[in-house]
Amino acid sequence: MIAVLLVAVSFCAQSRGAVDKDAEPTWTSATFFSTGFLAFTVLQQQGLASDLLSALYYYDESRLQRYQEFQALHPEYSGDTVVWMVGCDLDLPAYAQGIQASDPANLYVLVNKQHCLPDWYAPGDLVTVGNAPVREFLVAPLEELLAAAAAAGVSIYPSSGFRSFQTQELLWNSLAATSGETIADGCIARAGFSEHQTGLVLDINTADYQVYGTPEDFWLEEHAWEYGFIVRYTNANSDITQYVAEPWHLRYVGKEVAQLMHDGQIGSFEEYYLKYVLYAPPAD
Ligand code: DAL
Ligand code: ZN
Repeated sequence: MIAVLLVAVSFCAQSRGAVDKDAEPTWTSATFFSTGFLAFTVLQQQGLASDLLSALYYYDESRLQRYQEFQALHPEYSGDTVVWMVGCDLDLPAYAQGIQASDPANLYVLVNKQHCLPDWYAPGDLVTVGNAPVREFLVAPLEELLAAAAAAGVSIYPSSGFRSFQTQELLWNSLAATSGETIADGCIARAGFSEHQTGLVLDINTADYQVYGTPEDFWLEEHAWEYGFIVRYTNANSDITQYVAEPWHLRYVGKEVAQLMHDGQIGSFEEYYLKYVLYAPPAD
């Protein structure tokens, strides 16, 4: 437990510089009204309700008001981005509703600041690799990844895998007590909202506890997808995930999906989830 906490705090410290960038969007009616005029103009220019957007296969007319309110807060997002982000509830304030997964063991379960797991959930098929308990079916691809890294001269080891609701609660409470809630929320999920509880993720570490900006970081960024893993939290997607970049946190999605995300430049699991799990692209 202490080891996990030290690792988590060290990881948090590695990316501390990016915390401000990761500030959570606030969504208040005051903000909405104060940006109203600009939003109206943007909506007109981008044609949020235009035929183009309503033809998107993941557009849902019943969400129109949410699209408009979210676009009003984020005029920098394209209409398409607004539609898929609202589609997976990224317009909802972090932790406010806690939409609970109906099938926590599903390979494609979405766990983020809007979507959580039941507190009792723990996978029944955990196997420990290095220091990381992970679900049995990702042991082989993980060992493949570790062997490929070793062959490339990259020295990494799995340092944290499955974490129970209770362990996650201790981690968050501990960092919040020493560094404050904003810092804690930037790098550690609250209990129930951590992918670590799925058993589908692991943190990779190096002998000197440094991953960010190292050759190990770059190797994982370039090659993890070849083994079915995605780097879940990046600088590029931190406005979606609301976490600072964590080049060590790998989420297993399987080789096919990892390749699709890599080739299709789908930059976040949220975007994949909305466009391929909640909805299916129309056949050509
Ligand atoms: N560090 C990641 C966000 C977690 O605590 O699940
Ligand atoms: Zn992690």
